Amino acid sequence: MSKNRRNYGKMPLTKGIEMASVYSVKECGHRARHIVLSPENKMITGEFLRIIDMKDQFAVHDVPVPNKMMMFGPPGTGKTLTAFHLAHQLELPLVTVRLDALIHAHLGETGSNVRRIFEYARIEPCVLFMDEFDAVARTRDNNDEVKEMARVVNTLLQCLDEFPEHCIFIAATNLETELDNAIWRRFDTKMVYSNPAAELRLEYIRRLCGDFPSEPGLQEWASEKMEGCSYADLEQIILKAKRKAIIDNIPLSRLLIDLSIQEYRPYHLIAAQG
Ligand SMILES: Nc1ncnc2c1ncn2[C@@H]1O[C@H](COP(=O)(O)OP(=O)(O)OP(=O)(O)O)[C@@H](O)[C@H]1O
Ligand SMILES: [Mg+2]
Repeated sequence: MSKNRRNYGKMPLTKGIEMASVYSVKECGHRARHIVLSPENKMITGEFLRIIDMKDQFAVHDVPVPNKMMMFGPPGTGKTLTAFHLAHQLELPLVTVRLDALIHAHLGETGSNVRRIFEYARIEPCVLFMDEFDAVARTRDNNDEVKEMARVVNTLLQCLDEFPEHCIFIAATNLETELDNAIWRRFDTKMVYSNPAAELRLEYIRRLCGDFPSEPGLQEWASEKMEGCSYADLEQIILKAKRKAIIDNIPLSRLLIDLSIQEYRPYHLIAAQG
């Protein structure tokens, strides 16, 4: 474990339970350094940060500042990365909840774990981040399998309502339609993520290639070739191609990108093949 990251278990409120990892402001900045946001999400995050920066003026007008953000969209599109980015911008540590540790075989325990983690965030200034939020915030309507889960959702609702303005809560999910309606409307800020369209794909490929020696026109070609890929796919494919280039001591080429796509097998291509 890096020295920047501590386990929740070692913190004052934990009572020995390891439910989260904490990332320092510096580590958050490092992780999010290549982030590419869509113009809409850039606007939303920019406004969110600006409002928090202007808190005092909002207090004068008795307008609450936003502090609960929900991010949804397919895998590998930058939801978790945005949490790192925001924590860095806010100069707060990021506390990411480990769901495997939070969800207990006895759901009563899960409820108290939820309370404990929110309690921690109230006391230690941080950005609290819950990934795969659907695991704890699933709709209560058709949740027959585990009636008890409805209680966890109720606990979560209470925690969200009591969450003070100076704390920031961020949740992310791929399954937004399965979230409980009451939970959904507790979030004042929502951000939609998707696989990058042509322009953002090219921007990200340019960042990934940096000044690595490449055939002329490679980045534009690669961007068209990798239509339908997520950011995470693009990163993995370009890294694979770079490794091949380094081994053979040659520039990045169309051939290396093609080989890397075949080896990496992006999900949308596999799905298309049936
Ligand atoms: N918008 C983006 N800008 C830059 N890099 C990105 C972006 N989205 C994804 N990546 C790259 O892919 C990796 C995985 O992204 P991230 O964990 O943010 O995806 P996610 O949307 O949270 O996915 P999941 O739904 O699977 O949790 C990142 O560490 C980063 O390297
Ligand atoms: Mg994620």
